[in-house]
Amino acid sequence: MAKWRVMAGPSSQEFGEKLAERLGMPLLAASMKEFPDKEVKFTFGEQLASLEVLLVQSTYPPADRTYMQLFLASDYMTHEGAKVHAVIPYLGYSRQGKAFLPGETVTLGIIARILRSVGVTRVTTVDIHSSEGMTLFSMPIYSVSAISPLAEYVKANVQLNDPVLVAPDAGAVPRTEAFAASYGAEFVKFAKKRDKVTGEIDVEAGDLQLKGRDAVIVDDMISTGGTVAAATNLLRKAGAEKIVAACVHPLLVGDCYEKLIEAGVDEIVGTNTVPSRVSKVDATEPVARYLRTLALG
Ligand code: R5P
Repeated sequence: MAKWRVMAGPSSQEFGEKLAERLGMPLLAASMKEFPDKEVKFTFGEQLASLEVLLVQSTYPPADRTYMQLFLASDYMTHEGAKVHAVIPYLGYSRQGKAFLPGETVTLGIIARILRSVGVTRVTTVDIHSSEGMTLFSMPIYSVSAISPLAEYVKANVQLNDPVLVAPDAGAVPRTEAFAASYGAEFVKFAKKRDKVTGEIDVEAGDLQLKGRDAVIVDDMISTGGTVAAATNLLRKAGAEKIVAACVHPLLVGDCYEKLIEAGVDEIVGTNTVPSRVSKVDATEPVARYLRTLALG
């Protein structure tokens, strides 16, 4: 019978350790050294031949760096005879699953081909930006949803008055619907247009009356915070009181957190797919539940 190990990659030390504990699997003995010029190298402390390894490495910014670490670890382990299953809690470049303008690279497709070439045999991720992107992978790929624990956390920990759940754009609708089902509240959809060249966004709420009510904006990720800030502005105009932003992947690039608080967001809640000051929800439980169905261990 195959021997299983979890490798907690450098970007996902805590997530990997929690996952290993949930699955009752030992952690792989491996360490990474970073040189002054920021190049890295891995050293493995055990025989890899015939091991099955869950390589846990989230590819949040800087994505080129977190991906490179994943590629290096997977390639070495594969060459030494291990079978590598990548667990990528946040799948970087997933917003580039198609070309929006002529001449653009479909970067997620390139990532998928590199993952294949460094020996990754299966990918498990959490709330991929768009399921369309999964068609670019030639190995099995599955996206686990962390929306239910996110909704349960907000319900249990954030005091809200008659809240309305808000999908800030069309892509967020299925996730907000799932959040609403777990939370037990109604949801509304906003319409967002993004300029494909400048990236500037324009959000519309339609006729919305929320006097005296609270609101939760639900999205897969918060990156610069532009989407949540625009939605918050509309919610305030509609009379909403407390505004909470809930996302699976809190990338919070640059001064995003401060920008959102300034824009009037009262609380931000995210999961630990990306470590941050708002990563309050543990997404390892749904990931472990899925991995157990693959009859691991
Ligand atoms: C877009 O379709 C995504 O679901 C998010 O709404 C968006 O990527 C968030 O980015 P930002 O925080 O920069 O607006």
